[in-house]
Amino acid sequence: MEWKDEYKSKLCSLKEAASRIKSGDKVVVTHACGEPSALLEAMVENAAQYENVTIVHLTAMGKALYCQPGMEKHFRHNSLFLGGSTRKPVEEGRADFTPIYFSAVPDMLRKVLRPNVALLHLSPPDEHGFCSFGISVDYTKPAAEVADIRIAQINRNMPRTLGDSFIHVSALDCIAEHDAPLIELQPPQISDLEAAIGRNCASLVRDGDTLQLGIGAIPDAVLLFLKDKNDLGIHSEMISDGVMALAEAGVVTNRRKNFNPGKSVVTFLMGTRKLYDYVHDNPAIQMMPVDYVNNPAVIAQNDNLVSINSCVQVDLFGQVVSECVGLRQISGVGGQVDFVRGAGMSKNGRTIMAMPSTAQGGKVSKIAALIDTGASVTTSRCDVDYVVTEHGIAQLKYKTLRDRARELIGVAHPDFRPPLIEEFEKRFKSKF
Ligand code: COA
Repeated sequence: MEWKDEYKSKLCSLKEAASRIKSGDKVVVTHACGEPSALLEAMVENAAQYENVTIVHLTAMGKALYCQPGMEKHFRHNSLFLGGSTRKPVEEGRADFTPIYFSAVPDMLRKVLRPNVALLHLSPPDEHGFCSFGISVDYTKPAAEVADIRIAQINRNMPRTLGDSFIHVSALDCIAEHDAPLIELQPPQISDLEAAIGRNCASLVRDGDTLQLGIGAIPDAVLLFLKDKNDLGIHSEMISDGVMALAEAGVVTNRRKNFNPGKSVVTFLMGTRKLYDYVHDNPAIQMMPVDYVNNPAVIAQNDNLVSINSCVQVDLFGQVVSECVGLRQISGVGGQVDFVRGAGMSKNGRTIMAMPSTAQGGKVSKIAALIDTGASVTTSRCDVDYVVTEHGIAQLKYKTLRDRARELIGVAHPDFRPPLIEEFEKRFKSKF
């Protein structure tokens, strides 16, 4: 059959698409801003038809209605990274959390989870019948490859991104056309504090480096201080509007990358419509699955790879907590450890953990004598290297416990240094 005829034969309404899901199914949903909101709404409207459907999702940027009160009989959410709409359901026992490296999600899908359904959000097909995964290739393409059935929302607002980012119409089982704005992430407001952290981080970046930047105000603040650098490259799990601005300003050129030169290599995108228009059919953006982009062995092939991520707490040994506050899970590992390891193995690589020195309006020091009870270590003390706050740069890798503690106290908030110094003197039996 011609692909165009096949396409027409698979067209259905959102409701019909949702009715392809059956009780007991394991459903994987397109990640982050790529979430197929209309399909998810149709699925939740159809909730009475199902029991015990598992919804597997990494960062849910939408309302996550499937794990709100009243949905327990129909859906059970298995989150791989918590956000605003999914924290409370996990805390209240209505949903689950699985700790996992982002790079390992495709492996989990192939070997353990074996989903029945992949809910996809795709661009319209090109002249050869290929739809693009658009702003979310990550685990979404691998999920589409292993699921029993593939249900797609085809949306003309989904950009056609290039790279390993395509699925043919013949591989889809059910197609619901629905044009709606994609979920957007507005650039954060950058405070003076974040600017100070950004400035310190930027001082560790050199011309020709390849960057990985996490999400949020601190990575965006770093970008503000990179405007005078030359020929930066990108190999990052995600990018947002800030990187686009640096590319348009001629700072990000990817020219000096020794690996994938000329291309920003990414696995998902989170930003505004301007970013989504920028990446459309843009050969400078290479979207690849997460088991490629976040594989530490692949990351390490980039010389001068600088990874910049954030965290919740660092103890005096340099153990990094990035995803929980005590026992409370607030996010996930995501790609942090993938990039810390990859940057650690990269020739002239650097790994930066950037954070404000305090939390909760200045009441709590993020550099702590001990990790809070119940918290999980995300990045181990053997992997951590630079810890950056508004007060400076601590360098930890290959240093003794005593020297690490000294470095970290040096970048703690001055108000919290006296108790940390007291702890230092007790622990190391010597003067600070
Ligand atoms: N003690 C007590 N509470 C703390 C704390 C500490 N040491 N550090 C942070 N918190 C609280 C904050 O007050 C805030 O609470 P609220 O939501 O009730 O206001 C909450 O934890 C989140 O902190 P915040 O600083 O606002 O987080 P953020 O949005 O800047 O994100 C991380 C920071 C660390 C949570 C985030 O970067 C992350 O999840 N990292 C791990 C994954 C990762 O790095 N992926 C790679 C790139 S995407």
